[in-house]
Amino acid sequence: MNSSSGLPAGQPQGSGGAFAAGEASGLADFRHLLELRGMPRQRLVELLHLARTFRDRIGPAPANLSEGPVGDELRGRVVGNLFFEDSTRTRVSFSVAAKRLGAEVIDLASAGSSASKGETVIDTAANVASMGVDALVIRHRSSGAAHMIAKALDSLVGGVGGGVLHKPCSVINAGDGRHEHPTQGLLDIFTVADAFGRLESFDLTGITLGIIGDIGSSRVARSGIAGFSALGARVVCIGPPSLVPSAIRTLGCEISHDLDAILPELDVINVLRIQFERHEVGTGATVAENQPAAKSSAAIASIREYTEFFGLTAARAEKLKPKAIVMHPGPINRGVEIASSVADGKRSLILRQVHHGVAVRMAAMALCIGT
Ligand code: CP
Repeated sequence: MNSSSGLPAGQPQGSGGAFAAGEASGLADFRHLLELRGMPRQRLVELLHLARTFRDRIGPAPANLSEGPVGDELRGRVVGNLFFEDSTRTRVSFSVAAKRLGAEVIDLASAGSSASKGETVIDTAANVASMGVDALVIRHRSSGAAHMIAKALDSLVGGVGGGVLHKPCSVINAGDGRHEHPTQGLLDIFTVADAFGRLESFDLTGITLGIIGDIGSSRVARSGIAGFSALGARVVCIGPPSLVPSAIRTLGCEISHDLDAILPELDVINVLRIQFERHEVGTGATVAENQPAAKSSAAIASIREYTEFFGLTAARAEKLKPKAIVMHPGPINRGVEIASSVADGKRSLILRQVHHGVAVRMAAMALCIGT
């Protein structure tokens, strides 16, 4: 067990557990969104089609938020953001998505919660759920946090005795440790499908996606491998052997340690930052909550050398296929894994990913708790 959270330290067991209720029937049975691994292709496509509907409703460019809701699918619903780890994009995106469909949003961060007094995340989640919240959006540094909370909340529904919940509470995984970040995977897929004209079928056959960087630490990579490969894309994980564990192949991807050799084969390159904070956690050192981790790791000789061999420079971006696109989930370390000229350049869809994230999260919440 992780002593600070009451959660197990390892990866959750692969359960195809994206749907803890109503396995593999209609979308109405969608209660929790925990991972993309094991999600049937048809489910992925249905979810992405709904995201397309919402993207069309909010428009191709960010709308003025003061325009208010664009639908009432979440009217009367309350969404609780429980972020035990820092976030800019995901947290704001879930809030915007919920409000645009008429929901109320409650925000709780670990710094201002009773987690600082030793309360476990399961107790925190159960207490917030017991106030009538319909969905909890969970971010946590421990792999498996979202699964554990979903299981705990389900066990409290309809039981007898004190402390039971009157109604189910959905759990949406907003990133748990090194495990998964399913809505990031979905918005990445949506962005690729949009760029290559695949929004009708979401069939990504013939597209080669490179994911480059700290694959071993990355929940974005794990959700990406699961989702993109389920939709027919070829996925290649790229980086030095110290950052790309060979076991990652078992999830359905190839591995390359030679960026310059693989670049001409790529239609998409998704660039990840080096997650130094997870390296420190992995070695048993502690990273204080909300404090930046030291930018060093035994996994790489130096940042300068990493950039020399694996940084996406302007010269390297020119070696990509002519219509190739560049993505990054953020936050970006400019000049380390990606040059500013590439991040802001003509191939970059980085801010479009963020825009699509709102539509994807609208779809996720509408399916889990929609009226
Ligand atoms: N992509 C992503 O998860 O960003 P945040 O950490 O800012 O939410």
